[in-house]
Formats: sequence, structure tokens, C-alpha cells
Amino acid sequence: MDAIDCIRTRRSIRAFRKGPVPKEILMEVIDDARWSPSYKNSQPWEIMILSGAAKEALSKHMVELLESGAEPTPDMPEPHSWPEAEKARIDHLYKTRSEATGIDFSDPAVVRKAKKVNFNFYRAPHAIYLFQDGSLTPWSLFDLGLFAQSLMLAAHARGIGTVPQAFATDYARQIKSFLSIPKTKRLVLGISVGYPDESAPANALRTDRAAAQELVTWNE
Ligand SMILES: Cc1cc2nc3c(=O)[nH]c(=O)nc-3n(C[C@H](O)[C@H](O)[C@H](O)COP(=O)(O)O)c2cc1C
Repeated sequence: MDAIDCIRTRRSIRAFRKGPVPKEILMEVIDDARWSPSYKNSQPWEIMILSGAAKEALSKHMVELLESGAEPTPDMPEPHSWPEAEKARIDHLYKTRSEATGIDFSDPAVVRKAKKVNFNFYRAPHAIYLFQDGSLTPWSLFDLGLFAQSLMLAAHARGIGTVPQAFATDYARQIKSFLSIPKTKRLVLGISVGYPDESAPANALRTDRAAAQELVTWNE
């Protein structure tokens, strides 16, 4: 697969086949992703890969927190308002999804259910957490975003599906404590990882994008 195909055909995968991805292959994915650029080559990324009983135990812990009504403790606050253009795209995503599934995504019960599914990492065999030192500036967060995309592309090039999940960091304080990640770290992203179940309706969803012409201003 060439780079352009890889960028254009990657999509979020939310249903996985049961079997694990071999450890050597997951390491190859990380080995590729580490070639991402970063501010002054600071490489501000730390990675934890969870599988098997460790992943199940964390999922259980997060679901229990949700069900006990615990307040989320994310290191990266959930945005509550958006500028007009971004808000319109989010509304469009939810409208398209509602039309396809009949689910009302503004219903709090639906959000709760979605969180639970996220906390179970969409039943993927692996979950990857990306984190970095909490004292790093937004440039390093930017770098970690580049790393995340490289990781997802390197996975996709090998037939491995991923979905980036802000929800999987909802209980950052408790997750870090559970995983023995120092509390001085900033938990940025969870990513479910596994071989895609291509027959699952959850994977039939295709998102669209604003046209390039809408994004670019030429100044000649
Ligand atoms: C930073 C970030 C956080 C996201 N959080 C979630 C999440 O919590 N749960 C989820 O199912 N998808 C999540 N997504 C996936 C987006 O919904 C998805 O990337 C977007 O709708 C575009 O679809 P595509 O990835 O299939 O191209 C997240 C994506 C990013 C980049």
C-alpha cells in the first residue's frame, strides 16, 4: 500500500476479530511510528500497550467508575463549545450517524452507553495509551498527535484496525493510578487495536470531509 492509499483508506475501526495481533507486529508498528517529526526532535511520546487480563481489568475499572457516577478526571478537558465551522461538521457527523442507525446521539443514556463501549475498547484485543510529561507545552501535544497518526497509518498498512478514543481517557487520574503511570504524566489518547471485523455494521460507517477548496486560501 502506498502512502496516499494508506492516508485515504484509513478509517476508525469499531469492531474487531477476536485474535490478538502478534507482539512483534505491534512492535513493528511502534518502530515505524517513532519516525514521526517532533519539535527539536524531542520525541515527547510514551506508550503503554494493554492486552489480555490487564486490558480487561482496566475496562472493568472504568465501567465501574462510570456506573458509580464518578466525575470524569481527564487531563485534556472535553470541549463544550466549538467555532461555527467545526460545530457544523460535528452536527453533520451525528446527523449522518443517526440516520444510518436510528440512534439519537444527543440522548445522555446513549452517550453513557457509548462511553461503556469505549471503555471496553470496542472489544479489541489491545488498547494503546499515549501519554507524555504533564509539563510539556502544546507543541508536544501537537507532536504526540503526529505520532498517533503515524501509528494508526503504520497499523493500517499491515491490515490492523485502530480507533483513537478521547473517551478512553475520561478517568485519567484513576487510569494512571491503575496502570502505575506517574500522576505527573498527561494521558492524551487511548487507541483500540486489532484486526478489523470487516462484516460488522459498525465498520460500514464512512465519514466524509470538507472539500480541499473550502480549506485553502491561495495568496499569490
Ligand atoms: C483526538 C480524537 C479523539 C477521538 N475520540 C473518539 C472516541 O472517544 N470514541 C470514538 O469512537 N471515536 C473517537 N474518535 C474518532 C473520530 O470520531 C473519527 O476519527 C472521525 O469521526 C473521522 O472518522 P474516521 O477516523 O473513520 O476517518 C476520535 C478521534 C480523534 C482524532
